[in-house]
Amino acid sequence: MFAKNSSFIDFQSAQIQNIEELFSFSESLKKQQRPPRNKGEYAILAFFEASTRTRLSFEAALARAGIAAIVFDGGLNTSLEKGETIQDSILNMAAMNPRLMIVRCGQQVQLDTFANDSIFPVLNAGWGIHSHPSQALLDLFTLKQKWGSLRGKKLLIIGDVKHSRVASSHLQIGKILGLEIAQCGPKDYLRNRSEVQTFDDLGQGLVWADAIMALRFQFERHSGQQNFNKEEFRKQFGINANSLARMKSDTWVLHPGPINHGIEIESEVLGDARCLVMNQVNNGVYIREALVRMTLGEKP
Ligand code: CP
Repeated sequence: MFAKNSSFIDFQSAQIQNIEELFSFSESLKKQQRPPRNKGEYAILAFFEASTRTRLSFEAALARAGIAAIVFDGGLNTSLEKGETIQDSILNMAAMNPRLMIVRCGQQVQLDTFANDSIFPVLNAGWGIHSHPSQALLDLFTLKQKWGSLRGKKLLIIGDVKHSRVASSHLQIGKILGLEIAQCGPKDYLRNRSEVQTFDDLGQGLVWADAIMALRFQFERHSGQQNFNKEEFRKQFGINANSLARMKSDTWVLHPGPINHGIEIESEVLGDARCLVMNQVNNGVYIREALVRMTLGEKP
């Protein structure tokens, strides 16, 4: 895991030591610049879905590592407009012989198969509802900086947990690192209760949690069967000043972004000292730089 030329799609083969090594490398990169590699290597960022944080922080990470970034951004002015498939687009980019590829795509792409067959490493930058592992890493790195140790800590994920690839990755990595994870939200948007501890009442979840993570509603992934009432959701599950008052005084607030103000979280929460949203974004650069450098064979 995170070894030279290995792809990174999910946490299936991860061990606690791999994650701790990556966290410690990210910490050292954040404190002190490593020399860029400057070997004329380039990465292709193949982004078939919109992104701000993930794409730009991977670009920043590549710049810090001295790897040129070639960006395929969403498909506007590309041959997707002429009917080329996503699969063909990926294969054509792969034929340009990058040192690595960083891919964001939907369910229709078999990203795991592509990574297995690829002669260069492939990093997952968000794959359908399957996984967004670099996001889970940067979230937990951010909490580790506050707590020291993650083991035994309680993370409450609130909102559209069912359609969230961030939640999928947290459920995977949480098991490895010994975190307790629970969900809270409207029942149509939650995962199976046998899979994850569930709070029907937000107040009870807030008292239980050492950190909470509000999620955006993934409207683009809904089947149309769900009955979403924004005002009802905001009243029952939205995070606001009252939620902050109900939490323990040392409970942290996370959001992977992008934020829909006034739905899952109120703007007033973002200014609170316990809100770590911008720390998450900042740490994303170093987590992704560590991922890139370790994938290219650097030792922490
Ligand atoms: N958290 C996250 O994946 O944000 P972007 O969609 O902006 O990359």
